[in-house]
Amino acid sequence: MLGVVSRPSRLRGSIRVPGDKSISHRALILNAIADGPARISGLSSGADVASTLACLRALGVAAGAEEVRGKGFGGLQQASAPLDCGNSGTTMRLLAGLLAGCGFESTLVGDESLSARPMERIVEPLRRMGAHAEVGPLRVGGRQLNGSVSDGFPVASAQVKSALILAGLQADGVTRIVEIQPTRSHTEEMLIEMGAHVRIQAGAIEVERSERLRPLDVAVPGDISGAAFWIVAASCHPDAHIVLPGVGLHASRTAILDLVPVERSPNGLLATTQPRLPAWEWNPLWAASLIDELPVLAVAATQREGITTITGAAELRVKETDRIAAMACGLRALGAEITELPDGWVINGPTVLRGARVKSFDDHRVAMALAVAGLIADGTTEIEGAECVAISYPGFWTDLQSLA
Ligand code: S3P
Repeated sequence: MLGVVSRPSRLRGSIRVPGDKSISHRALILNAIADGPARISGLSSGADVASTLACLRALGVAAGAEEVRGKGFGGLQQASAPLDCGNSGTTMRLLAGLLAGCGFESTLVGDESLSARPMERIVEPLRRMGAHAEVGPLRVGGRQLNGSVSDGFPVASAQVKSALILAGLQADGVTRIVEIQPTRSHTEEMLIEMGAHVRIQAGAIEVERSERLRPLDVAVPGDISGAAFWIVAASCHPDAHIVLPGVGLHASRTAILDLVPVERSPNGLLATTQPRLPAWEWNPLWAASLIDELPVLAVAATQREGITTITGAAELRVKETDRIAAMACGLRALGAEITELPDGWVINGPTVLRGARVKSFDDHRVAMALAVAGLIADGTTEIEGAECVAISYPGFWTDLQSLA
């Protein structure tokens, strides 16, 4: 599908973004191993979360968009076929951590993009916990686990951290995970609410075997990583006023609001036209907490005055596509001055973007970031592979139409 975008004279409206993808995955996975049913509302409608639901059902859990009937740790059953994680790294990594401690072996597969993403980052620490774990395809499970050694596991990824926490819940001894940089903390916080033996310390998380988890009803808030597209679009458009009700403002996710001015109104976030702003003085330590927002922040940087040098973001090279290369390619085609670095970009602004035909590289966040560029560019922008927005934001194109 081709996404066709041009700059409307005004951007106006109220957009309810889909449920937070990270919280949705965890609401399903954590409740699957709780003792009893939990209610869920506002679950993400995206294809990634549908992959998690399908995998849990294949493991014998009665799970739907509004209810998960937890079966306890021992209640998971071996799936009759490989678990298909689709395009979802969160599904594959979190389930691998959970299934590593189960008494049976599981095989986890994904689409072409997911199959090419690095899984050694979970296989290696899981093996150090005594797990049977191998790649190509990813196979885990069937052995008793031990907590980690005293120096712990250094990680800078919420997915890897979460996988090790889930393994640690079923391991003998204490599993200690050391965060090199803080990342989203939904897994550990939700588990503590469920009564798990998880402690959050300065820069580390300690986990001990937890036989029983209380079910946790979850009202999933709107996804701030989806709202980020409209926040940037409004800030760069000459006449914009967009209300974003119900967006989750968890402290580990709101770094975007420190970089792009947004008002907090009683109706939700209010994103409006901003005057010309200076380039960011980028701190590479920001990248981990903005990892999903970086493609659209690159678009924003093309409209700022001066040179923004985004670094510390090498992880973008191993996302659904190489997002550093994909955004450089798309923005350059639209007339931006952008150079790739191994771990980011140098972007010289402001530039008048001009519509062109660009590629999503089948990456939802690249497609949506380039659509935002199209909303502020002269002429018409055509985005190839526009349907991939369904991974996290199936209503994206309809919402875009409604704003114009
Ligand atoms: C996620 C963690 C991040 C993020 C992804 C969702 C999560 O990935 O990019 O969209 O829900 O844990 P990494 O852990 O690979 O940084």
